[in-house]
Order: sequence, then structure tokens, then C-alpha cells
Amino acid sequence: MAGSFDGLEMLKLSIASREEEAMDNLEPRAPHARRRSSARASAPTARPATLPAFTPELAAEMAPIYARVKHLVTPMEWPHYAPLIKAINELKTTRNAVILAHNYMTPEIFHCVGDFRGDSLQLAKEAARTTASVIVQAGVHFMAETSKLLNPDKTVLIPDLEAGCSLAASITAEDVRKLREVYPGVPIVTYVNTSAAVKAECDICCTSSNAVKVVESLGAPRVLLIPDEYLAKYVQTKTKVEIIAWKGHCEVHERFTAKDIADIRAADPGTKIIAHPECPPDVIDVADFTGSTSAMINWVKTNRPKKVALITECSMASNVAVETPDVEFIRPCNLCPHMKRISLENIYEALRDMRYEVTVDPTVAEKARRAVERMVNLTN
Ligand code: 13P
Ligand code: SF4
Repeated sequence: MAGSFDGLEMLKLSIASREEEAMDNLEPRAPHARRRSSARASAPTARPATLPAFTPELAAEMAPIYARVKHLVTPMEWPHYAPLIKAINELKTTRNAVILAHNYMTPEIFHCVGDFRGDSLQLAKEAARTTASVIVQAGVHFMAETSKLLNPDKTVLIPDLEAGCSLAASITAEDVRKLREVYPGVPIVTYVNTSAAVKAECDICCTSSNAVKVVESLGAPRVLLIPDEYLAKYVQTKTKVEIIAWKGHCEVHERFTAKDIADIRAADPGTKIIAHPECPPDVIDVADFTGSTSAMINWVKTNRPKKVALITECSMASNVAVETPDVEFIRPCNLCPHMKRISLENIYEALRDMRYEVTVDPTVAEKARRAVERMVNLTN
């Protein structure tokens, strides 16, 4: 699975002098949680805040749902979760709402209230298809913005405005405009982990599951792939198209090291190592498989390894373990602090009070939508 980054490194050397000055101005921003400007809190609607009590009747009614997560949620925790899950599922009907749950959600969200579950691309596609009038994004802010772009007439809610992403925070629309000046005529592909304002400046979007296909669809000899440097390097190993990278990183995946992998292999050489392309290249180099969060899940479901380590956010192992009880998961545990802001409590409050509504400026939205729809059409 080892790949060569020679092409990318040579490119960097050859362009270094010409771009040094420009790139000085293009340093990625320090990760911060969010871009508040495109999200606003709606005025709460008057609904009682009461939750049902955890009675024996409620326990019996919720037993089939508990059966899905009983290996992960203790009997001590369930009396806290069950009333929230019942209330959320009722509010979904009242509000004509669906919950889009990313693969990194905790199991009580993912398996008990999520209507659609998946990676960024799958959630974007479900957002495009749903007939519900309200979408609750159990994920981070750029995902909610993407849902809004594809559903301008629907209400899109995010349960916590602070649920950002270090990759999305690493680049601004102004940075992309400068890149266009530095690389005239070179198409710009943006990873979906960016703000709508950044997407609006780019030619097409991609996710970790379709990045190679998107890059090659452009028919160009050179392509800018922003903002994840490691995804760009990974794509460079899969295509002859010259990839120009930005220096954004995922604060969760960049923490995995080749030593972590060596330690897992030393403990049991039979353990399969499955990595997300946001990991550093030396981690990807020694992985048995690399793919998007859903591609990783599918790999485990199809190959049924005896032991596997998922080199990604650690809730995902819990979620896939529910469906693969025969597989043992080694859990190097890096949590995404942004994803972990989403809880049953704030999903309940989001639906109860119709907050926090995510909006995108219409002129930005029109351009950003083109980039997302171009990707969705390509991968349908
Ligand atoms: P996926 O598109 O693979 O779900 O990745 C999204 C993400 O944020 C990974 O950190
Ligand atoms: Fe962003 Fe990384 Fe969290 Fe994914 S895991 S949302 S890329 S910070």
C-alpha cells in the first residue's frame, strides 16, 4: 500500500521560489472551532421542556432500541438516554425532521436517533434526497452548511454552534482567491471539510471517498486540492495528475504516528490496520487499507478480520462493532472535540426549540452549491 510522493515533493521544490512570497501570505489559520457568521440561533418556539420519566412501561417500549446498543451502553446509562431518545423520535414526527448522523457520532446517537448514517458524501446525498422539512445535522458545521446548500428551502439545524473543524478553519475564501492569482487556470478542488465561502471560490468539491475520481474528472494536468495536505498527498499516490496541496490538517488524524502503528503491529502482527486519508503519509504507507469513514466500515464488514485497528476518530469503532460482533477492535482513541459536542441533550433541544438554524448568504450559496452539485452529479 506504500505510495510515492516524489511527484508532489518535486513540484513543491520547483515552485518554491516563485511562490515563497505569495505563500507567506497563505499560512493556514490556527484551528478554531467555527465560523459563526453563517449560523444564527432561531427564536425558541414555546414547547414544554419536560421529558418522559423512565418508567417500567417506557423501559419495555424502548427495549428493541436498547437491544441495538446494549453492548455499548450500560444499564446504568440507559435510564438517562431512553427518555431523550423517545422524546427526540417523537419530535422528529412533529417537526417532519430527519437526523443525519455522521459515522463519528456516539452509538446512542448513531444507532438510536440517526435516520441516515454515513460519511460526508453519503450524508450530502441524503440531504439532497430528503423530503423532510427540517434536517438536524448530527455532525459538524461544514456538514450542516452542505446540507443547507443542497436544501435551500429547508430548515437545517445544528445542535451546537461550536461544532467546527480544524480543516475548515485552516483556509478562507480570501486565501483561495490568492491561490487563483498564484496558479492562474489551475482548477481548484476543495475537500468538503471547508466553509461555504471557500466552496464558493472553488470549481468542485470532493470527499475522502471520491477525491481521486473528482481530480481526474477535470482533465487537467495540474489541480489544486485544498485544504488537507495529507489527503492531497494520498491522492497524489493514486493519480498522474499533479496535485498542489495546502497545509491544512485534521487535528484528530494528524496525531496518529507511524510508531502507533508499529506498536499495534508489535502487539499482534495479525491485526489489520485501516486508516483514514487524513492521516499522515507515514501512517497511510503502512496501513492495509485507506478509505473514507464508510469505506473503512465496508472494508471491516466485507473482510471480517479477526482483529482490526481503525486509525480514525474512536467512536467509529463502537458503531461498526455493533454490526460486526465477531471482529475484535483495537482502539487507539483520538476523539474529535467538535463531533463530540453533539449529544442527545442538544439534539433534543435543537428539535424542541428549532435551534440553531444554519444559513448561507444567497450569493455565496449559489456559487458554493455549484461546486457541491458538480461532485454529487459525478458520483451518482
Ligand atoms: P468522511 O467523509 O470520511 O466521513 O470524513 C469526514 C471527516 O471529517 C473525517 O475526519
Ligand atoms: Fe474536522 Fe478532523 Fe473533526 Fe473530521 S475529525 S470534523 S476533519 S477536526
